[in-house]
Amino acid sequence: MRRPWDPESASAVFVLAALVFVGGAFAGGVFLGRATKGARTIVTAATATQPAASRVSPDVAQGAHDFVNFACAQCHGPNGRGGVSPDVPALSAASKLTAAELRVIIDHGLGESANPKKPYMPVWGGIISDHQINDLIAYIRADLPTVPAATPVQVPTDQGLQVEGQALYQRYGCVNCHGPNGLGGVPNPLSPDKTIPPLSGAAFFKEFDTDQKIMDVIRSGSVIGRPPIVSMPHWGGILSDQQLRALVAYIKTLKRG
Ligand code: HEC
Ligand code: HEC
Repeated sequence: MRRPWDPESASAVFVLAALVFVGGAFAGGVFLGRATKGARTIVTAATATQPAASRVSPDVAQGAHDFVNFACAQCHGPNGRGGVSPDVPALSAASKLTAAELRVIIDHGLGESANPKKPYMPVWGGIISDHQINDLIAYIRADLPTVPAATPVQVPTDQGLQVEGQALYQRYGCVNCHGPNGLGGVPNPLSPDKTIPPLSGAAFFKEFDTDQKIMDVIRSGSVIGRPPIVSMPHWGGILSDQQLRALVAYIKTLKRG
Protein backbone atom coordinates (compact mmCIF):
# COMPACT_ATOMS: atom_id res chain seq x y z
CA MET A 1 0.00 0.00 0.00
CA ARG A 2 1.32 3.42 -0.85
CA ARG A 3 2.05 5.72 2.08
CA PRO A 4 2.35 9.49 1.91
CA TRP A 5 6.12 9.33 2.48
CA ASP A 6 6.93 6.61 -0.04
CA PRO A 7 9.55 8.15 -2.32
CA GLU A 8 7.13 7.80 -5.23
CA SER A 9 4.17 9.48 -3.65
CA ALA A 10 6.40 11.96 -1.84
CA SER A 11 7.68 13.24 -5.16
CA ALA A 12 4.12 13.23 -6.49
CA VAL A 13 3.09 15.38 -3.56
CA PHE A 14 6.03 17.66 -4.19
CA VAL A 15 5.11 18.09 -7.84
CA LEU A 16 1.47 18.66 -6.99
CA ALA A 17 2.36 21.13 -4.28
CA ALA A 18 4.58 22.97 -6.74
CA LEU A 19 1.78 23.00 -9.34
CA VAL A 20 -0.78 24.26 -6.89
CA PHE A 21 1.67 26.87 -5.69
CA VAL A 22 2.58 28.04 -9.18
CA GLY A 23 -1.07 27.99 -10.27
CA GLY A 24 -2.01 29.89 -7.17
CA ALA A 25 0.77 32.41 -7.70
CA PHE A 26 -0.57 33.06 -11.20
CA ALA A 27 -4.01 33.62 -9.79
CA GLY A 28 -2.32 36.11 -7.55
CA GLY A 29 -2.07 36.45 -3.79
CA VAL A 30 -1.60 32.78 -2.90
CA PHE A 31 0.71 31.40 -0.27
CA LEU A 32 2.30 28.27 0.93
CA GLY A 33 -0.51 27.53 3.35
CA ARG A 34 -2.93 27.00 0.53
CA ALA A 35 -0.48 25.04 -1.58
CA THR A 36 0.12 22.64 1.30
CA LYS A 37 -3.57 22.29 1.89
CA GLY A 38 -4.14 21.49 -1.78
CA ALA A 39 -1.44 18.83 -1.73
CA ARG A 40 -2.79 17.31 1.45
CA THR A 41 -6.25 16.97 0.01
CA ILE A 42 -4.80 15.04 -2.91
CA VAL A 43 -2.86 12.72 -0.59
CA THR A 44 -6.02 11.95 1.35
CA ALA A 45 -7.88 11.15 -1.84
CA ALA A 46 -5.10 8.77 -2.92
CA THR A 47 -5.41 6.79 0.33
CA ALA A 48 -9.18 7.00 0.51
CA THR A 49 -9.48 3.34 1.53
CA GLN A 50 -8.04 4.17 4.97
CA PRO A 51 -9.63 6.29 7.65
CA ALA A 52 -8.12 9.76 7.35
CA ALA A 53 -4.96 9.95 9.41
CA SER A 54 -4.56 13.47 10.59
CA ARG A 55 -1.19 14.50 11.91
CA VAL A 56 -0.53 13.11 15.36
CA SER A 57 2.11 14.04 17.90
CA PRO A 58 5.25 11.87 18.14
CA ASP A 59 4.12 10.27 21.40
CA VAL A 60 0.75 9.25 19.92
CA ALA A 61 2.54 7.95 16.79
CA GLN A 62 4.97 5.94 18.93
CA GLY A 63 2.04 4.61 20.95
CA ALA A 64 0.37 3.43 17.73
CA HIS A 65 3.53 1.55 16.75
CA ASP A 66 3.81 0.04 20.24
CA PHE A 67 0.15 -0.99 20.03
CA VAL A 68 1.06 -3.05 16.96
CA ASN A 69 4.48 -4.30 18.14
CA PHE A 70 3.20 -5.57 21.48
CA ALA A 71 0.22 -7.18 19.72
CA CYS A 72 -2.39 -5.15 21.61
CA ALA A 73 -4.05 -4.91 18.19
CA GLN A 74 -4.20 -8.70 17.86
CA CYS A 75 -6.46 -9.01 20.91
CA HIS A 76 -8.23 -5.62 20.93
CA GLY A 77 -8.54 -5.33 17.15
CA PRO A 78 -6.99 -2.74 14.81
CA ASN A 79 -7.24 0.72 16.40
CA GLY A 80 -8.62 -1.04 19.50
CA ARG A 81 -12.00 -1.34 17.80
CA GLY A 82 -12.65 -4.90 19.10
CA GLY A 83 -14.20 -7.74 17.12
CA VAL A 84 -11.49 -10.35 17.78
CA SER A 85 -13.06 -12.26 20.68
CA PRO A 86 -16.14 -11.68 22.83
CA ASP A 87 -13.78 -11.88 25.84
CA VAL A 88 -11.63 -8.92 24.78
CA PRO A 89 -13.23 -5.46 24.98
CA ALA A 90 -12.85 -2.70 22.41
CA LEU A 91 -10.85 0.17 23.90
CA SER A 92 -13.27 2.98 23.00
CA ALA A 93 -14.48 3.16 26.62
CA ALA A 94 -10.91 2.89 27.91
CA SER A 95 -9.99 6.09 26.05
CA LYS A 96 -12.02 7.92 28.70
CA LEU A 97 -9.97 6.45 31.59
CA THR A 98 -7.37 8.61 33.29
CA ALA A 99 -3.70 8.13 32.51
CA ALA A 100 -3.19 6.73 36.02
CA GLU A 101 -5.96 4.15 35.58
CA LEU A 102 -4.59 3.05 32.20
CA ARG A 103 -1.09 2.73 33.65
CA VAL A 104 -2.29 0.35 36.37
CA ILE A 105 -4.13 -1.83 33.82
CA ILE A 106 -1.19 -2.04 31.40
CA ASP A 107 1.41 -2.53 34.14
CA HIS A 108 -0.52 -5.14 36.12
CA GLY A 109 -2.90 -6.78 33.67
CA LEU A 110 -6.59 -7.39 34.20
CA GLY A 111 -9.21 -10.11 34.16
CA GLU A 112 -9.68 -13.72 35.06
CA SER A 113 -6.17 -14.99 34.59
CA ALA A 114 -6.86 -18.31 36.33
CA ASN A 115 -9.25 -19.62 33.65
CA PRO A 116 -7.10 -21.13 30.89
CA LYS A 117 -10.05 -21.14 28.49
CA LYS A 118 -10.36 -17.36 28.39
CA PRO A 119 -7.87 -14.66 27.48
CA TYR A 120 -6.93 -12.11 30.10
CA MET A 121 -5.06 -8.84 29.86
CA PRO A 122 -1.38 -9.78 30.30
CA VAL A 123 0.96 -8.18 32.84
CA TRP A 124 3.13 -5.85 30.76
CA GLY A 125 5.14 -4.01 33.42
CA GLY A 126 8.14 -6.33 33.08
CA ILE A 127 8.23 -6.09 29.29
CA ILE A 128 7.16 -2.59 28.23
CA SER A 129 9.18 0.40 29.46
CA ASP A 130 7.65 3.35 31.33
CA HIS A 131 8.34 5.50 28.30
CA GLN A 132 6.49 3.11 26.00
CA ILE A 133 3.59 2.78 28.44
CA ASN A 134 3.26 6.58 28.48
CA ASP A 135 3.13 6.55 24.68
CA LEU A 136 0.50 3.79 24.70
CA ILE A 137 -1.56 5.85 27.14
CA ALA A 138 -1.26 8.93 24.90
CA TYR A 139 -2.41 6.84 21.93
CA ILE A 140 -5.40 5.33 23.76
CA ARG A 141 -6.44 8.72 25.17
CA ALA A 142 -6.24 10.20 21.65
CA ASP A 143 -8.91 7.57 20.77
CA LEU A 144 -6.54 5.22 18.90
CA PRO A 145 -6.24 7.03 15.55
CA THR A 146 -4.88 5.39 12.39
CA VAL A 147 -1.17 6.14 12.06
CA PRO A 148 0.44 5.33 8.70
CA ALA A 149 2.86 2.37 8.72
CA ALA A 150 1.77 1.26 12.19
CA THR A 151 0.57 -2.00 10.69
CA PRO A 152 1.26 -5.57 11.80
CA VAL A 153 3.48 -7.90 9.81
CA GLN A 154 1.62 -9.62 6.95
CA VAL A 155 1.18 -13.37 7.32
CA PRO A 156 1.56 -15.37 4.10
CA THR A 157 -0.65 -18.46 4.20
CA ASP A 158 0.47 -20.06 0.93
CA GLN A 159 4.19 -20.54 1.61
CA GLY A 160 3.99 -23.38 4.10
CA LEU A 161 3.29 -23.58 7.81
CA GLN A 162 6.79 -22.61 8.93
CA VAL A 163 6.72 -19.29 7.09
CA GLU A 164 3.23 -18.61 8.40
CA GLY A 165 4.39 -19.43 11.94
CA GLN A 166 7.46 -17.21 11.69
CA ALA A 167 5.28 -14.25 10.69
CA LEU A 168 2.78 -15.04 13.45
CA TYR A 169 5.63 -15.10 15.98
CA GLN A 170 6.20 -11.41 15.13
CA ARG A 171 2.60 -10.41 14.58
CA TYR A 172 1.42 -11.80 17.94
CA GLY A 173 4.38 -10.34 19.79
CA CYS A 174 5.79 -13.68 20.97
CA VAL A 175 9.20 -12.23 20.07
CA ASN A 176 8.92 -9.53 22.74
CA CYS A 177 8.82 -12.12 25.51
CA HIS A 178 10.67 -15.13 24.05
CA GLY A 179 13.30 -13.24 22.06
CA PRO A 180 14.34 -13.40 18.42
CA ASN A 181 14.60 -17.00 17.19
CA GLY A 182 13.05 -18.14 20.49
CA LEU A 183 16.40 -17.62 22.19
CA GLY A 184 14.87 -16.32 25.42
CA GLY A 185 16.85 -14.11 27.77
CA VAL A 186 14.06 -11.68 28.70
CA PRO A 187 14.22 -11.17 32.48
CA ASN A 188 11.31 -12.13 34.72
CA PRO A 189 13.08 -11.63 38.05
CA LEU A 190 10.37 -12.80 40.46
CA SER A 191 9.43 -15.97 38.56
CA PRO A 192 10.91 -19.31 39.69
CA ASP A 193 13.42 -19.44 36.82
CA LYS A 194 13.99 -15.64 36.83
CA THR A 195 13.62 -15.41 33.08
CA ILE A 196 11.00 -15.99 30.39
CA PRO A 197 11.85 -19.42 28.97
CA PRO A 198 13.43 -19.83 25.53
CA LEU A 199 11.51 -21.75 22.86
CA SER A 200 14.66 -23.45 21.69
CA GLY A 201 17.49 -25.52 23.11
CA ALA A 202 17.77 -29.07 24.42
CA ALA A 203 15.77 -28.54 27.63
CA PHE A 204 12.83 -26.97 25.78
CA PHE A 205 12.62 -29.73 23.16
CA LYS A 206 13.01 -32.43 25.83
CA GLU A 207 10.02 -31.09 27.79
CA PHE A 208 7.94 -30.22 24.72
CA ASP A 209 8.56 -33.36 22.70
CA THR A 210 5.24 -33.48 20.81
CA ASP A 211 3.33 -30.97 18.68
CA GLN A 212 0.35 -31.40 20.97
CA LYS A 213 2.28 -30.33 24.08
CA ILE A 214 3.53 -27.16 22.38
CA MET A 215 0.05 -26.36 21.04
CA ASP A 216 -1.57 -26.96 24.42
CA VAL A 217 0.72 -24.58 26.28
CA ILE A 218 0.27 -21.81 23.70
CA ARG A 219 -3.49 -22.24 23.82
CA SER A 220 -3.84 -22.35 27.60
CA GLY A 221 -0.97 -20.07 28.62
CA SER A 222 -0.07 -20.14 32.29
CA VAL A 223 -0.23 -18.07 35.40
CA ILE A 224 2.95 -18.34 37.39
CA GLY A 225 2.29 -15.61 39.91
CA ARG A 226 0.88 -12.18 40.46
CA PRO A 227 2.13 -8.93 38.90
CA PRO A 228 4.89 -7.90 38.44
CA ILE A 229 5.60 -11.50 37.41
CA VAL A 230 5.03 -11.85 33.66
CA SER A 231 2.92 -14.88 32.70
CA MET A 232 2.22 -16.58 29.41
CA PRO A 233 -0.95 -15.06 27.90
CA HIS A 234 -3.85 -17.40 27.11
CA TRP A 235 -4.12 -17.47 23.33
CA GLY A 236 -7.12 -19.84 23.06
CA GLY A 237 -9.96 -17.97 21.32
CA ILE A 238 -7.42 -15.52 19.84
CA LEU A 239 -5.30 -17.86 17.68
CA SER A 240 -7.05 -20.42 15.46
CA ASP A 241 -5.98 -24.09 15.40
CA GLN A 242 -4.35 -23.48 12.02
CA GLN A 243 -2.32 -20.59 13.49
CA LEU A 244 -1.33 -22.72 16.48
CA ARG A 245 -0.13 -25.47 14.12
CA ALA A 246 1.87 -22.89 12.15
CA LEU A 247 3.53 -21.57 15.33
CA VAL A 248 4.45 -25.13 16.33
CA ALA A 249 5.92 -25.78 12.86
CA TYR A 250 8.02 -22.61 13.17
CA ILE A 251 9.18 -23.31 16.73
CA LYS A 252 10.33 -26.78 15.63
CA THR A 253 12.73 -25.13 13.15
CA LEU A 254 14.59 -23.35 15.97
CA LYS A 255 17.96 -24.31 17.44
CA ARG A 256 17.97 -27.60 19.36
CA GLY A 257 21.44 -27.73 20.84
C1 HEC B 1 -3.87 -11.86 24.93
C2 HEC B 1 -4.86 -10.83 24.62
C3 HEC B 1 -4.56 -9.41 25.04
C4 HEC B 1 -3.47 -8.64 24.68
C5 HEC B 1 -2.26 -9.04 23.85
C6 HEC B 1 -3.70 -7.33 25.22
N1 HEC B 1 -4.87 -7.31 25.91
FE1 HEC B 1 -5.69 -5.68 26.85
N2 HEC B 1 -7.18 -6.85 27.58
C7 HEC B 1 -7.40 -8.18 27.26
C8 HEC B 1 -8.58 -8.66 27.95
C9 HEC B 1 -9.16 -10.07 27.91
C10 HEC B 1 -9.10 -7.56 28.68
C11 HEC B 1 -10.35 -7.53 29.57
C12 HEC B 1 -10.00 -7.93 30.97
C13 HEC B 1 -11.23 -7.96 31.84
O1 HEC B 1 -11.80 -6.89 32.04
O2 HEC B 1 -11.59 -9.03 32.31
C14 HEC B 1 -8.20 -6.43 28.41
C15 HEC B 1 -8.37 -5.17 28.93
C16 HEC B 1 -7.62 -4.05 28.58
C17 HEC B 1 -7.88 -2.69 29.02
C18 HEC B 1 -9.04 -2.24 29.90
C19 HEC B 1 -10.25 -2.02 29.02
C20 HEC B 1 -11.47 -1.57 29.80
O3 HEC B 1 -12.35 -0.97 29.17
O4 HEC B 1 -11.53 -1.85 31.00
C21 HEC B 1 -6.92 -1.89 28.45
C22 HEC B 1 -6.77 -0.40 28.59
C23 HEC B 1 -6.05 -2.75 27.67
N3 HEC B 1 -6.49 -4.06 27.77
C24 HEC B 1 -4.96 -2.30 26.94
C25 HEC B 1 -4.06 -3.15 26.28
C26 HEC B 1 -2.81 -2.72 25.71
C27 HEC B 1 -2.30 -1.30 25.69
C28 HEC B 1 -2.20 -3.83 25.21
C29 HEC B 1 -0.83 -3.96 24.57
C30 HEC B 1 0.29 -3.51 25.36
C31 HEC B 1 -3.10 -4.96 25.45
N4 HEC B 1 -4.21 -4.51 26.09
C32 HEC B 1 -2.83 -6.26 25.05
C33 HEC B 1 -6.61 -8.96 26.42
C34 HEC B 1 -5.43 -8.56 25.83
C1 HEC C 1 3.92 -11.27 27.95
C2 HEC C 1 4.99 -12.19 27.66
C3 HEC C 1 4.68 -13.38 26.78
C4 HEC C 1 4.18 -13.38 25.50
C5 HEC C 1 3.72 -12.19 24.68
C6 HEC C 1 4.21 -14.75 25.06
N1 HEC C 1 4.70 -15.54 26.04
FE1 HEC C 1 4.98 -17.57 25.92
N2 HEC C 1 5.54 -17.60 27.88
C7 HEC C 1 5.68 -16.51 28.71
C8 HEC C 1 6.10 -16.96 30.03
C9 HEC C 1 6.36 -16.06 31.23
C10 HEC C 1 6.19 -18.36 29.96
C11 HEC C 1 6.55 -19.32 31.11
C12 HEC C 1 5.30 -19.75 31.79
C13 HEC C 1 5.53 -20.66 32.95
O1 HEC C 1 6.68 -20.93 33.32
O2 HEC C 1 4.52 -21.14 33.50
C14 HEC C 1 5.83 -18.74 28.60
C15 HEC C 1 5.81 -20.05 28.12
C16 HEC C 1 5.65 -20.41 26.80
C17 HEC C 1 5.81 -21.74 26.27
C18 HEC C 1 6.23 -22.95 27.11
C19 HEC C 1 7.73 -22.87 27.35
C20 HEC C 1 8.19 -23.44 28.66
O3 HEC C 1 9.39 -23.79 28.74
O4 HEC C 1 7.40 -23.49 29.61
C21 HEC C 1 5.60 -21.68 24.92
C22 HEC C 1 5.67 -22.83 23.91
C23 HEC C 1 5.26 -20.31 24.61
N3 HEC C 1 5.31 -19.56 25.76
C24 HEC C 1 4.96 -19.85 23.34
C25 HEC C 1 4.53 -18.55 23.06
C26 HEC C 1 4.04 -18.12 21.77
C27 HEC C 1 3.97 -18.98 20.53
C28 HEC C 1 3.69 -16.80 21.92
C29 HEC C 1 3.05 -15.89 20.90
C30 HEC C 1 1.78 -16.34 20.35
C31 HEC C 1 3.99 -16.42 23.29
N4 HEC C 1 4.49 -17.50 23.95
C32 HEC C 1 3.80 -15.15 23.79
C33 HEC C 1 5.50 -15.19 28.34
C34 HEC C 1 5.00 -14.76 27.12
